[in-house]
Amino acid sequence: MNPPAIAIDGPAASGKSTVAKLVASQFGYTFINTGAMYRAIAWYLHRHGIAPTEVEKIKELLPDIPLEFGKEGSSSTVLFAGKVLTAELTEPAVNETVSIVAAVPEVRSFLLRKQREYNRSEAVVMEGRDIGSVVFPDTPFKYFVTASPEVRAARRAAQGLTDSISERDKNDASRSCAPLTQAPDALLVDTSDLTIEQVVRLIARDIESKLSH
Ligand code: DC
Repeated sequence: MNPPAIAIDGPAASGKSTVAKLVASQFGYTFINTGAMYRAIAWYLHRHGIAPTEVEKIKELLPDIPLEFGKEGSSSTVLFAGKVLTAELTEPAVNETVSIVAAVPEVRSFLLRKQREYNRSEAVVMEGRDIGSVVFPDTPFKYFVTASPEVRAARRAAQGLTDSISERDKNDASRSCAPLTQAPDALLVDTSDLTIEQVVRLIARDIESKLSH
């Protein structure tokens, strides 16, 4: 049996990354940001002048894509040419193309394998859009973290980012392969009127009660 996998899904700017990081640190689990994995592929394609709609080219390139999906300390990282990608992953071109790249089924199955590998030997808190529905459908630890559109837009602006999250959410929720969705057995956590600490406490309590059964 694999170690525990905590699935945290939700739309853009719902607060799920912050919450997932804190939950991971509280339990001593590894934090995995799957959005960064999709973003790294979108960044690499853009850098090589490949449009997100050139699906045949993308399929051909994927097996040899020189990105390394690794770990530094207790968090996942993506490396290119030995360097951890950070600011590159929120470049405007990446924000604009990532949800189109993430809708390509071959990209999803390529990353799905890597995402599951992280959980082979260690407990993880993984955040994304399809973690509870597709990546770890059998885990009992599933949380769907959301907030009102107004609160999410304000949180995005506070991060200094101006990308259109509603457009991206529409793309993410309407694609046919592994769309953004609340798994039927996921606990819905609306963070609009909660502090980060309250959200973390709520999720941590649920995990603890399930771990002790
Ligand atoms: O979480 P994020 O905003 O960094 O995600 C970037 C994009 O990647 C987002 O538009 C949806 C996509 N994504 C996905 O399709 N599946 C995941 N598990 C994680 C992210």
